[in-house]
Amino acid sequence: MYSEKVMDHFNNPRNVGEIENASGVGTVGNAKCGDIMRMYLDIDENGIIQDCKFKTFGCGAAVATSSMATELVKGKTIREALEVTNKAVMEALDGLPPVKVHCSLLAEEAIHAALWDYAQKNGITIEGLSKPKSDISEGEEEEDY
Ligand code: FES
Repeated sequence: MYSEKVMDHFNNPRNVGEIENASGVGTVGNAKCGDIMRMYLDIDENGIIQDCKFKTFGCGAAVATSSMATELVKGKTIREALEVTNKAVMEALDGLPPVKVHCSLLAEEAIHAALWDYAQKNGITIEGLSKPKSDISEGEEEEDY
């Protein structure tokens, strides 16, 4: 049911962890299943994503898609990172079973939420980016999960 790439990223997720003093952090949740994903971005002064890490409290497909998403945005510009859609992530993973497509949305939204946080912190507007609906980072500091 799962492609080899999905299994590989699930069993050996890349870039798991946190980035201290990250340029942007995004936390999103899937209201249906309750799964949560947090994405950290380290963005340099030229707007290049130097590093990306994630933590996912969720299903295997969510872990695999977050892992692939971090690989895809690393080294990219902000504009290019916006093109890392859930479709792009799924393609890179050689597909997901239809019932698991919604899981890949978390990865896309986590990237957007982290970029949104970066834009807020720096007082800039990123063209084509709006606050993700599933952004649950409000009151993040008090939250401990
Ligand atoms: Fe919740 Fe996959 S079942 S993200």
